[in-house]
Amino acid sequence: MRNVPANGQNGRRRSEEWFERRDLDGFLHRSWLKATGVTDQTFRGRPVIGICNSWSELVNCNVHLRGLAESVKRGVLQAGGFPLEFPVVSLGESLMKPTTMLYRNLMAMDVEESIRSYPLDGVVLLTGCDKTNPASIMGAASADIPTIVVTGGPMLNGRWRGREIGSCSDCWHYHEELRAGRITEAEWTEIENSMSRSNGHCMTMGTASTMACVTEALGLTLPGGAAIPAVDARRHQLAEQAGRQIVQLADAGLRLSDIVTREALENAIRVLHAISGSTNAIIHLIAYAGRLGIELPLQLFDELCASTPWLVDLKPAGRYLMEDFFYAGGVPAVMGQIADLLHLDAVTVTGETVRENIAGAEILNGDVIRSADNPLDEGGALVVLRGSLCPDGAVMKITAADPALLQHEGRALVFDGIHDLAARVDDPELECDASTVMVLRNAGPIGGPGMPEWGHLPIPAKLLRGGVTDLLRISDARMSGTSYGAVVLHVTPESAVGGPLALVEDGDPIRIDVSERRLDLLVEEDELERRRSAWEPPARQDERGYRSLHAEHVLQANEGCDFDFLRGKTGVVRDAVTYL
Ligand code: FES
Repeated sequence: MRNVPANGQNGRRRSEEWFERRDLDGFLHRSWLKATGVTDQTFRGRPVIGICNSWSELVNCNVHLRGLAESVKRGVLQAGGFPLEFPVVSLGESLMKPTTMLYRNLMAMDVEESIRSYPLDGVVLLTGCDKTNPASIMGAASADIPTIVVTGGPMLNGRWRGREIGSCSDCWHYHEELRAGRITEAEWTEIENSMSRSNGHCMTMGTASTMACVTEALGLTLPGGAAIPAVDARRHQLAEQAGRQIVQLADAGLRLSDIVTREALENAIRVLHAISGSTNAIIHLIAYAGRLGIELPLQLFDELCASTPWLVDLKPAGRYLMEDFFYAGGVPAVMGQIADLLHLDAVTVTGETVRENIAGAEILNGDVIRSADNPLDEGGALVVLRGSLCPDGAVMKITAADPALLQHEGRALVFDGIHDLAARVDDPELECDASTVMVLRNAGPIGGPGMPEWGHLPIPAKLLRGGVTDLLRISDARMSGTSYGAVVLHVTPESAVGGPLALVEDGDPIRIDVSERRLDLLVEEDELERRRSAWEPPARQDERGYRSLHAEHVLQANEGCDFDFLRGKTGVVRDAVTYL
């Protein structure tokens, strides 16, 4: 364990400020805690470890986290700590509307203020579904006490008629097959029943799996933790180990900001490219950096892309699923292959460096995880585009796109929001062909609101029936990490604040050139100026409550979609006096 200052003031644990004082406050803190049945021997003189649990029956991906918390508690008790589990608001991709991203910052506030205001010396974050992971880490970053993340793990691979099917890459694929008339309604129902067959988060390299891998690459998860299936006993063993380890971190005072440094963030970006991870990770990593006062420009993701090989052959970009990734060696095997690109001296929650953590890591299945000298591609997965259509940037997952559409010029077909899209996309009279560039606007952080995962626009049914399998699609939305296609996302500034996307009209020529990292609207400036002067912002959607706060304070995608007032960190309450 690295030699670091003790957690708390004057060498005292933070929790001692609550439990060791002899005044009325100390009496109240101890007495009310004893109402739960514990004695002085249980908590006096021991580090208090919070277990921040995003368990919820509304969030199927996290529904097993209560059980995982018990394993963490066991580890905390073994190591001499005192565990206290607490709930936070949770965010479930499949049921929460319009999008969990609208509430990521709300959950981050819940996590931050819970850690800030209670007498915790360390915290274990239990996360699973897509946004529960970044929201928890953002909140913990601003509170900044010793922190370990235990992710819930992926579901077992889906299986249908002998085929492995992944959530939700194969939802999109088979939905297109259904719309094209190539599978029946009965088969569609069979797929529904065969895909999600255990606890855990989506088991493609979607956003939840990506964020789990990225969290491990940051050094916030114990090595190998990201890929263990949710229902594998080794996930509980890892949770128990994390419980023991957080006590060590709390005693050493190794805080989250000691681990999530610029170097750790660069390691995470390298792994993001090597696994061909979700575009959503870009937004979340920028948000972490904003909490910790670290410069992490969008452009850096592109700079690190070209020199990072794509190694992991998982859906949606590749063939396999997370269970295969676990058996193949998981994140340590990937990091071992790109070790020469990593900051190996970065410290992690093991108290050891990345170099020590990945020493001896092996690839156990070279089809699923390629070696660095036999990559799926020499370059990484996610590129940043700029040009007249996206002055502040846009992102594209090139590994999941038809290569023919990476250099392309076509005419715009514009949809003014998700309802317009839904109403017209399957109209047999829709004017489009294989060269069409579909454009969706009013889907950004403010316009959505919450930047929903609408960016994977459905290909018009008449084109699907004609055999078209990919189409260039552009929006200010996000896309599910499980989606694929020639999809340009996160166009910034978004249309709702008057970005160029707001000015596109049907038939406008649009050109993409990924090799040059360009995305341009080929319309004369005087014509754009005419349209700009006639443009009016969309009517505000929310006048009260949290959503009003969101509309007023959310930042654009290239700044991480955090609230402007949440960037930075203020630490935790250390003065436990309420009464005199
Ligand atoms: Fe929760 Fe996919 S719905 S991770």
